Amino acid sequence: MTRSKVRTAIFPVAGLGTRFMPATKGTPKELLPVIDTPLIQYAIDEAREAGIARMIFVSHPSKAAIQHYVMDDAQLRTTLVHHGKAELAHKLELAALDRRDCEVIFVMQLEPKGLGDAVACARPHLLDGPVAVILPDDLILGVPGCLRQMIDAYDCDIAGHLIAVMKVPWALTCEYGILSVTGQQGRLVFADSIVEKPTADVAPSQMAVVGRYILDPAIFDTLAKQGPGIGGEIQLTDAIAQSGLIKGIAGFRFSGRRFDCGSKQGMLTATLFLAQQDPAYAEVLATYNIP
Ligand code: UTP
Repeated sequence: MTRSKVRTAIFPVAGLGTRFMPATKGTPKELLPVIDTPLIQYAIDEAREAGIARMIFVSHPSKAAIQHYVMDDAQLRTTLVHHGKAELAHKLELAALDRRDCEVIFVMQLEPKGLGDAVACARPHLLDGPVAVILPDDLILGVPGCLRQMIDAYDCDIAGHLIAVMKVPWALTCEYGILSVTGQQGRLVFADSIVEKPTADVAPSQMAVVGRYILDPAIFDTLAKQGPGIGGEIQLTDAIAQSGLIKGIAGFRFSGRRFDCGSKQGMLTATLFLAQQDPAYAEVLATYNIP
């Protein structure tokens, strides 16, 4: 297998998940399931498919359940086998990360100071080269997965920072980082800046940033000097905009469906979408007149 040009992926999972409280008081948002699969599993599978060699989870001590979920649990598998559930035990083994698969590192962000700060926490553990960032609450279903598509398209001579983008209605620009677009070529959208959550009247385009990034490592120097932005948080988009002046920024219009599972509406939509793909749920959906 040829070595992927992007070897490290950072999973920021230290946020408070306030939009899902009270559920997230007990269960980290990243472990909330779409039907039976936690959001973090989709993100891990996407990184695996993309050939990532080192996964760095930036978590919080109160979210230890994430580490427990992500790693293999041989004792649980043995118990399942003893209960005649060997197939389920095998499914868990395939889903879990163990260190033969790729390197797994957990670091703690002790205070939720923002996404930029969470990404910066991973700095001491990076492998050489560009770094992927995956936000597990942005569920992206694509074949191949979004990160694989992005790595295939990534060329640091064209743009050091490649960011997944999608077109949103003007009314929704205020919910996203929005690219200031300078040109387009195929799926690449070139930009000279990113504006964080602009209202429609000042938004430079409809190209919205979603939770997949490939970043030139120069971003870490920028983050180290970065002050708080919108909401008093250290914003990753501010650092990309700053560092992009030298390294270049391109958006990537991925193929696939994206669900904002950080919101209840997005989570419900993803659940209904996946339920529609499985005949096992047809009767339930029909009860609610959902085709
Ligand atoms: P979000 O802003 O969507 O997550 O961050 P949140 O802050 O946990 O959720 P709400 O808005 O209060 O409901 C996107 C991702 O970045 C992580 C989150 O865990 C999530 O996976 N994050 C965010 C951090 O790791 N640290 C932070 O300081 C902020």
